Amino acid sequence: MPSRIPASSQRDIHPRLAERVLGHCQHAWRQPLHDHSLLAFQAVAADVAAADQVILDSGCGTGASTVRLAHQHPDALVIGVDKSVHRLARAPDLPPNARLVRAELTDFWRLARASGWRLHRHCLFYPNPWPKPAHLGRRWHAHPVFPDLLGLGGRLELRTNFQLYAREFASAVAVVLSLHPEVVSLPVADAVSPFERKYAASGHELFGVEIDLNQEKHRMKLQSLGMIALAGLLALPAVADDRLQAVIADSDRPADQADRDQFRNPFDTLTFFGIRPDMTVVELSPGGGWYTEILGPYLRDDGQLVAAHWNLDGDNVPDFYRRIRAEYEERIADTDRFGDIRIVPFDPPELIDLGGPATADLVLSFRNVHGWKRAGTFRDVARAAHAVLKPGGVFGIVSHRLPENHEQDPEARSGYVHQSWVIAVLESEGFRLVEASEINANPADTADHPNGVWSLLPGLRVPEGEDTEHFRAIGESDRFTLKFVKR
Ligand SMILES: C[S@@+](CC[C@H](N)C(=O)[O-])C[C@H]1O[C@@H](n2cnc3c(N)ncnc32)[C@H](O)[C@@H]1O
Repeated sequence: MPSRIPASSQRDIHPRLAERVLGHCQHAWRQPLHDHSLLAFQAVAADVAAADQVILDSGCGTGASTVRLAHQHPDALVIGVDKSVHRLARAPDLPPNARLVRAELTDFWRLARASGWRLHRHCLFYPNPWPKPAHLGRRWHAHPVFPDLLGLGGRLELRTNFQLYAREFASAVAVVLSLHPEVVSLPVADAVSPFERKYAASGHELFGVEIDLNQEKHRMKLQSLGMIALAGLLALPAVADDRLQAVIADSDRPADQADRDQFRNPFDTLTFFGIRPDMTVVELSPGGGWYTEILGPYLRDDGQLVAAHWNLDGDNVPDFYRRIRAEYEERIADTDRFGDIRIVPFDPPELIDLGGPATADLVLSFRNVHGWKRAGTFRDVARAAHAVLKPGGVFGIVSHRLPENHEQDPEARSGYVHQSWVIAVLESEGFRLVEASEINANPADTADHPNGVWSLLPGLRVPEGEDTEHFRAIGESDRFTLKFVKR
């Protein structure tokens, strides 16, 4: 059956369009995100960080256009986003560089922009026309999300069979960027999507608008647009992960460990690293197992925890290592609680095999970097993490932070290291920094204590005559929280 061209009583560009667009550029839009969109976004974020070029097919329907784009651009990652489960269920087989995501575009665009995505190309093929004048605010160019849509950059291509939509879209772009894109009549030879095929077969004239948002002059302007909205979005609480919350709140966790949550922020930290209960997670040097107490029960049913623990073979193993590791093994022997945690000996540079190549989703390290700096093995650790991670897998690191204007002791005897050094080493070993978070920052820590970081909680190893209470009041150390992805 031939389809109809959208009928509208609106004859010309809506008189309130410019006012709407300007308002959206100036005011924050704080509508909460949907959990399913956030989870869907997190599921592709690592692939995006690892990709050189990203193409977004927004409102992809069944994903046929996504697949077509992926074949045309084999070097790019092509992501199709649609809110309709029904349409996505009819997706064709995907080539390796294509992903389909069920999400609300209003969420997905905001998250992508807030995460600093820069698109190569952005396709808006046949968005719902919303032809009634009263529906102006539902058309993408008059919607509050429009600044984020533009802020994603890329070569933006709109296609529609509703000429007024194309004209308004071009006009809204002109309001923001002082640029007047042309509305062109499109050839109907080789349809880019099912709706284009359907409309062409019905004899509709098709219209397109194309804008290169990656031009420097536009980038500068777009950077500041709707920034208040973005700041608000980033402050939103993390998506609910009931299992993680339950494990952290479990009264069987040792009480002295739970007391430290205020400093170690396990929920926010693990959520920031993108943990999921079905992941294979490698914890480097878990020590006494503070994080294992959370990771073990969390991964018990659907995932796998690998503990890369101290190597006890050899003559010079400190007694302290033997005692702590024995206590650790005794504790995790309760497999009902911890599941089947696999222990691998980890002793860089010699013992660095963390598991089969590309088998882990997430490698985690908490408060270890100073030890590797002292031993000169941080590059070996980086290579080991890189080898065990799947492409796009995440390396999450929390460690004591030395202010950049403090001189770094090559032996890191204070326990503090420069965040910039960690980033530089990992970036040169095949990782890309996705984001640095201040979740575990402590501005009260001046990082210049007599016994280094051990002067602070939880150790409070304070020299004779020093005021313990002064150190207790500081809390635990200032820490960087860095999320890297394997390229
Ligand atoms: C007219 S269809 C076009 C589909 C496809 N681009 C094509 O050309 O064949 C519009 C699509 O946009 C999707 N869509 C509309 N609003 C959306 C939203 N807020 N978030 C995600 N998808 C949306 C619909 O589910 C639908 O699949």
